[in-house]
Amino acid sequence: MANVTSISKKEIIELLSLKGSEQIELHRKASEIRRDSVSDRVYIRGLIEFSNICENDCFYCGIRKSNNNVRRYELTPDEILGAVDEAASSGLTSVVLQSGERRDRRFISLVTDSLRIIKQKYPFMGITLSSGEQDRSVYEEFHKAGASRYLLRIETSNEEHYNRLHPGAMSFRERIRSLHDLRDTGFQVGTGVMINSPFQIPENLADDILFFQTLDIDMCGMGPFIPHSGTPLGKVEYSAEESFNLGLNMIAVLRIVMPDINIASTTALETLSPAGRESGLMAGANVVMPQFSPFSLRDSYTLYDNKPLGSEDNRGFLDSLKEKIKSLGLIPVTEDSGTSIHYIRRTQNVSTC
Ligand code: 5AD
Repeated sequence: MANVTSISKKEIIELLSLKGSEQIELHRKASEIRRDSVSDRVYIRGLIEFSNICENDCFYCGIRKSNNNVRRYELTPDEILGAVDEAASSGLTSVVLQSGERRDRRFISLVTDSLRIIKQKYPFMGITLSSGEQDRSVYEEFHKAGASRYLLRIETSNEEHYNRLHPGAMSFRERIRSLHDLRDTGFQVGTGVMINSPFQIPENLADDILFFQTLDIDMCGMGPFIPHSGTPLGKVEYSAEESFNLGLNMIAVLRIVMPDINIASTTALETLSPAGRESGLMAGANVVMPQFSPFSLRDSYTLYDNKPLGSEDNRGFLDSLKEKIKSLGLIPVTEDSGTSIHYIRRTQNVSTC
């Protein structure tokens, strides 16, 4: 089977709209492609939301700067290491450090200090960072300090749409610039979009898929938009069912067009359906990210209403997650940090055809 699939925008729009038995068939095909290209292994990464302080004021996001109803927190490097200890003692070799976006020097030092102490104690730990747009020199510092992967969602690949979801102080071009800087710095680069977000039309999602292909991303984390009542877009009309189906179909289509990238089955899917995470895996995803943040702080990282908090018993939660993955006929993997095969191929300059 070819590793790169070319597909027209019209075909993508059609695939994204599939429901019922045709949708099941689409997901089956995506799962088969996953098996052929990246195997049935599902990588488990511990998600540590280390600060909810954010300079941005995105119209959809619960931790936006002007939401005064959020209890703001920032973990110290030792507290971040404590959360990594929990993940490591549960057998994980991959963590995702995620935060609101800040560019002050204090924050940058917090991140680099944390990366260094994690790497010192756990040299094998794969670290994904997700802390927004930064100067290129800062990305270089983060990379040098031990982060090897970076997630920065574009949210939508349409500039006009972007400008309707974000205040004027935020720039689509800067986001693109950041994604290119991350790639030039040597990161495994991940991006993603919000699916069925306000003002979005089906064509936008098809363009998003083509954008991921053009950018030649290594990883993708995308999920349905879910309103947060304390935000300007908290009262828009929206169908959970429609968002859920589109969320799954986006995963399936992306797997078909970019067979060897890592694709996460995200928490937003789980919010819309109790077995949403499993459905995402059945649609072609190969990464899950259970939470390892201190339990008492999890409800302060409410990006959208009803975001699940996981369990206080991290290890019990992880064990049941592994069982669920096995019950789907897939293989939960913790002992390998799960480098994107696409990244390995593109950096070794091996043709993906
Ligand atoms: N619904 C779904 N996803 C959201 N995010 C933020 N707010 C929402 C929401 N209301 C996602 C964005 C952002 C990530 C941190 O969380 O894609 O990049």
